[in-house]
Amino acid sequence: MALQETGPSLAVVGVTGAVGQEFLSVLSDRDFPYRSIKMLASKRSAGQNISFQDKNYVVEELTADSFNGVDIALFSAGGSISKEFGPLAVERGSIVVDNSSAFRMDDGVPLVIPEVNPDAMKGIKVGNGKGALIANPNCSTIICLMAATPLHRHSKVLRMVVSTYQAASGAGAAAMRELEQQTHEVLAGKEPTCDIFQRQYAFNLFSHNSSVLPNGYNEEEMKLVKETRKIWNDPNIKVTATCIRVPVMRAHAESVNFQFETPLDEETARDILKNAPGVVVIDDRASNNFPTPLEVSNKDDVAVGRIRRDLSQDGNYGLDIFVCGDQIRKGAALNAVQIAELLL
Ligand SMILES: NC(=O)c1ccc[n+]([C@@H]2O[C@H](COP(=O)([O-])OP(=O)(O)OC[C@H]3O[C@@H](n4cnc5c(N)ncnc54)[C@H](OP(=O)(O)O)[C@@H]3O)[C@@H](O)[C@H]2O)c1
Repeated sequence: MALQETGPSLAVVGVTGAVGQEFLSVLSDRDFPYRSIKMLASKRSAGQNISFQDKNYVVEELTADSFNGVDIALFSAGGSISKEFGPLAVERGSIVVDNSSAFRMDDGVPLVIPEVNPDAMKGIKVGNGKGALIANPNCSTIICLMAATPLHRHSKVLRMVVSTYQAASGAGAAAMRELEQQTHEVLAGKEPTCDIFQRQYAFNLFSHNSSVLPNGYNEEEMKLVKETRKIWNDPNIKVTATCIRVPVMRAHAESVNFQFETPLDEETARDILKNAPGVVVIDDRASNNFPTPLEVSNKDDVAVGRIRRDLSQDGNYGLDIFVCGDQIRKGAALNAVQIAELLL
């Protein structure tokens, strides 16, 4: 039982959402110690009951006072809520682990994947008596870098080309419900309800729904570019991305092409990935069995396959891989809870 007097006091902001619900399940699965936990959401959900580890909790409306006495606040209620309430929580001495993009690129805010750059949050601990903000990277960035970092440590990535196949869950619980509803409607020959993406999603795919910027990239693609530079602490790393929304419920897939500074052959790459924490290799050419979103759904590890030399580059300087990861879990809630574990 993770409820214990010596544990930190927690708050989950956005507890009724897709990521919020996953926070609860990851905290439970990992036996995260806590002495109390506050369930916070909007006025709409205030009063709702949530059962967690055999206890009943009532969802409270988020206000500035919600953070009095809170050691760790896990935020997943959208960027504007993080911007408004994150600094207030820090002022009250809470350590905020934020899932939104509100602070990711701010100087002085660590952007952390525990398997990749835990040192970025060195010195931030519960019990220091000081509040702090730590940002959780974008889900596509986390899933990509879980596989790319062990290779980068061996042969230094000079350039990375990422193409994503992103699930409905990345757009929240309402998008997941709409994908299911549209699928029923289309199969029944009805017009699909298009409230979330304003277009048919079931039996279709389309460019990621984030805003398209003046340079032609959308915001999701630029997150992969900028966050990789920050996490790897390398402003010169060349990254380009194309992000696509596909009608898959909850795990993202990504094709990643690398150009390395020093050679890295296929076999060495496979061995490195087999030994990487949080990564499993599914790479069976004989039976054409490679990672799928379904297979990684509700799992902690990111799966990598299709590991092959890039024929278009000379020698062993280029490599292609295919990565799948549960983006609500490692892409959001699990990564944030792992960050929280480093605070203890
Ligand atoms: N989905 C993902 O995989 C993913 C991954 C990484 C990061 N994120 C980020 O996490 C955040 C939430 O994503 P989600 O997918 O969980 O969305 P979601 O399913 O739509 O849930 C949104 C949550 O935010 C709460 N909320 C909305 N307005 C609020 C307000 N004014 N005050 C307090 N709480 C409020 C909602 O509470 P009510 O139920 O009361 O409305 C709900 O609990 C976003 O910033 C998103 O970018 C999501």
